[in-house]
Amino acid sequence: VTFEIHPDIAKAEAPPSEVYSSQDCFERLRKTAFRNSWQFAADLDQVKVPGQVYPFSFIEGCVDEPLLLTRDTSDQIHCISNVCTHRGALVCEHAGNERYLRCRYHGRRFGLNGSFEHMPEFEGVEGFPSESDSLRSVQFEQWGRLLFCAVEPACPFSEWMEPALAAVPPPTEYVYDASRSRDYLVKANWALYVDNYLEGFHIPFVHAALNEVIDYGTYRTDLFPWGTLQTAYGSDSFDDGFLQLPPDQAQGVAALYYWFFPNLMLNFYPWGLSINVVKPLAADRTKVSFICYVRDPSRLSDGAGAQLDRVEREDESVVEAVQRGVQSGLYNRGRYSTKRETGPHHFHRMLARALSE
Ligand code: FES
Ligand SMILES: [Fe+2]
Repeated sequence: VTFEIHPDIAKAEAPPSEVYSSQDCFERLRKTAFRNSWQFAADLDQVKVPGQVYPFSFIEGCVDEPLLLTRDTSDQIHCISNVCTHRGALVCEHAGNERYLRCRYHGRRFGLNGSFEHMPEFEGVEGFPSESDSLRSVQFEQWGRLLFCAVEPACPFSEWMEPALAAVPPPTEYVYDASRSRDYLVKANWALYVDNYLEGFHIPFVHAALNEVIDYGTYRTDLFPWGTLQTAYGSDSFDDGFLQLPPDQAQGVAALYYWFFPNLMLNFYPWGLSINVVKPLAADRTKVSFICYVRDPSRLSDGAGAQLDRVEREDESVVEAVQRGVQSGLYNRGRYSTKRETGPHHFHRMLARALSE
């Protein structure tokens, strides 16, 4: 499936419905948009002290690239491939504290920075060891206490996250809250979940309680090269001076909803940050991980950020119904509201580009 999205939203048609159900599209996006993305990797606490190692998977269930975060004895953080350069065994299987990395298959040893150190029974092997016998290093970036990484990034981190980096102070004094974090399994294509996230158009129809605390009339969407920002205004707003937005935008902000292509959402509320990571599992199955960071617990029950679980269930129910709808033979593609659907239009243009690669 290849398709075009007219750059002029007034003339454009949304993607053909096949995009949301075809196995072929799903596989291609997995190998392009997802493989080439930046991802939230871990909290800084996972590698708090020298010697700490933290194995993880780059988009579990989707790309599944085995990676490893370490902090070496000189207090430097590294993100490296977790695949042994001998026969491809996983080098580190459990988080913990180590002096070096040792592959349990045939005993190859690496430093905590991934550099090759020792291999038994390899005397006489020509040109060994070489650079390719060390574990591959992987790009990572730190923003406050959040670590991000990329295997083959389509753009630099600073460019990808620029809008949030410019407007929100780094999330440093935030506390991870496991009790408010959880995974949702959505019976729909990942891109339908993103489509729904990117417009506030449905708020009055689908989210009655949320609609009470935000002002639908002033809800705004800004577009960026790698994402969008939706700003909701309302009575329970951020303290003055916290956000570094232009003065005409900063007053009375109740929530900032950032989305970064393809699958990261950073939702800032006066109480803190809710990270949503959208993980495609199959063409019609998606896992959405909610990761919660509290900055000001006294504001947890304020306004737009108060009922995230209810809003999520309302979204899931509608998105799952859309999944059944796009599989219909009687529907193909629809048009956009020029006022309320600039976010989905922007996303669909990125999707069309990724599918034509
Ligand atoms: S696969 Fe790691 S030492 Fe053989
Ligand atoms: Fe919604």
